[in-house]
Amino acid sequence: MNIKPAQDSLAALIQMGQFIGWTCQLDYEKAVVLTSDLWKARARGVPHNCFLLAAAPGFSQPDAAEKTPGEIILLRVTGSAPLPLDDEALQAKIRNLKARQFPPVETAPAAAAGGEFQFGGLGCRILGTFYLQDGKLRLGSDIESYFHAPHLEVYRPTGAALEAIVNYISPERAAAAREEARRLGLPGDLPRFPIGTVRYTSTDRLHRGAECDQAVFHLNAVDFLARRTAVFGMTRTGKSNTVKQLVSVVMRTSRGSGLKIGQIIYDLNGEYANANQQDQGSIAEVFPADTLRYRMLPTAGFQLILNNFFTQIAEGHTTLKGLIEANKIHRTADLEAFLSMDFSEPRREEYNSEAEFQRQFANHQRKIAAYQTVLTRAGYELPPGFKITFEANAGIRNKVNPSVDPANGLTATQAFEWFQLARQIQDELITTSGADWIDPDTNVLMNLLLQRNDQGAYIPGFRLLQPYKDYHAPSRTTDVCDEIYNHLVGGKIVILDLSVGDPVQRERLGKRIAQHILRHSMATFNSGQHAPHIVIYVEEAHNIIGRNEPLTDIWPTIAKEGAKARLATVYATQEVSSIHPNILSNTENILVSHLNNENEINELAKYYDFRDFSRSLIRAQNVGFARVKTLSNPFVIPVQIDRFDPEKERQRAVW
Ligand SMILES: Nc1ncnc2c1ncn2[C@@H]1O[C@H](COP(=O)(O)OP(=O)(O)O)[C@@H](O)[C@H]1O
Ligand SMILES: [Mg+2]
Repeated sequence: MNIKPAQDSLAALIQMGQFIGWTCQLDYEKAVVLTSDLWKARARGVPHNCFLLAAAPGFSQPDAAEKTPGEIILLRVTGSAPLPLDDEALQAKIRNLKARQFPPVETAPAAAAGGEFQFGGLGCRILGTFYLQDGKLRLGSDIESYFHAPHLEVYRPTGAALEAIVNYISPERAAAAREEARRLGLPGDLPRFPIGTVRYTSTDRLHRGAECDQAVFHLNAVDFLARRTAVFGMTRTGKSNTVKQLVSVVMRTSRGSGLKIGQIIYDLNGEYANANQQDQGSIAEVFPADTLRYRMLPTAGFQLILNNFFTQIAEGHTTLKGLIEANKIHRTADLEAFLSMDFSEPRREEYNSEAEFQRQFANHQRKIAAYQTVLTRAGYELPPGFKITFEANAGIRNKVNPSVDPANGLTATQAFEWFQLARQIQDELITTSGADWIDPDTNVLMNLLLQRNDQGAYIPGFRLLQPYKDYHAPSRTTDVCDEIYNHLVGGKIVILDLSVGDPVQRERLGKRIAQHILRHSMATFNSGQHAPHIVIYVEEAHNIIGRNEPLTDIWPTIAKEGAKARLATVYATQEVSSIHPNILSNTENILVSHLNNENEINELAKYYDFRDFSRSLIRAQNVGFARVKTLSNPFVIPVQIDRFDPEKERQRAVW
């Protein structure tokens, strides 16, 4: 094959062996290309939706003075185009076919094989113009002017030339990427993430055949980081695979470049954390040292998303409240009072005097102690070395149990006994220390602890809390949100396996973590520092950033404003139409695989040039066959996303 040596980045786009015809019509929007079977065959076919390049004719002539074309027009084949002589050619073809016999007894009439019949027209849309400016390759998204008389030579780019087209990045964006790299203290450029290879059609025998150079498609970090990316497609058409591929390629590339990128996956089906039979491997297995898995219920190999109920009082109480509400448990007056309790600490400025504040504070402490004692009674494990601690004045101490001072901390048993004794002599305590030795909330908690209401009748009390003790993480010493955020800052992969546990709690904790990430990254940004790069992946996103969600909700807020705080979001769903339109229209990168109905296609066709792919998206059901629009590229690129192959990834992961 006669491939012209690369004189410059523009000339290098043209591969002589890939000539397929001439333009015979051209305007601002469309082109008709005259092609012949012979040229098509030499270029290994012209698939529907493939890219073509049109350059001025002198370019290919060996003695042309000007070896570099001034510009090259980028086209996309959108269909066939009728030529003026098509009708006559068709008549002649039909005449010939009528004269044939089957099975063939002699060679076909010579005319059938030759000349006229081999020519046809291709309808193309103009995608843009490549040209050089200050020695740099530029891509305009239209054509500036055109001539009527000359015809342009048309080529179908493959391999390196095609790679240059689909990975084009403008000098401005390239400079922005370098600038960001410099800000982050990276030696070179921001990395690019290879995620697949160009694929035009479902049938890919020729254009992706064994002897064809594949063109690797990259997602630029500058397009991806701090941006929004949508992954659409029917079930089992490769959305999760795309996410896995992204997670692993971001991990791999970021390690290579020294850029720390934290990644957190909201894994609603538990498919990222576990090796499931279908896919033979998971992210957690490929990057064992850099992946942290979280779950709501205790499981080997997983951290608990949960908090320690003894140290995070308000959070634990909110969890219990949610669980009890979700389970529609019959509520006694005491339970009702427990649910509406407020465990926030009294603040000095809320009180008129220091003495009043101190009194409230001691009450608050006793209330917490009574609550903690209720928890231990219900079987919630005390954290190692943890003591239940509160103040009681000497008068009360001497009456209840002179041998222990609760200010020094009590064991679970001691605390239970203390409250039990106090209840037995409650009337006496009220007479000596006044009615407010115990506040109403503590009284309710003592009722729950001792299973008697104010009238002395039996109530289930602490037993109602027993079923939820798995939501308490006794060994946790920090807030789970802080812990997760720190992992992300350290460039780790965090998988939130939300496939188990109470749905209401899952949603609440999921939101709490998202809020925490946004708040902390925003605070870093607002203090004038660089927020860490974090990517948040959300599966089944229609549940989370659906069109009915108020835009003030945490997820739409992240999608809308996360960019400032260097938060990237990747959301996957099968329903384009279910995503909040404000979010969709602010999404910089869109990857779509097969969709099965006109409604979803029409929704998508409102964006960029996805309309060109409407038919093919409905028709081609191939797994991982995506049409991709990125921020850098002014048009959609059809790509076969690489399969996430744990075995291959593991081998690569050896550094
Ligand atoms: N690009 C791809 N190449 C080859 N196989 C793929 C590709 N994407 C997905 N698969 C396979 O297809 C199946 C469904 O993919 P999945 O990503 O789970 O789809 P979705 O998340 O859209 O339901 C999986 O078994 C997966 O391994
Ligand atoms: Mg999936």
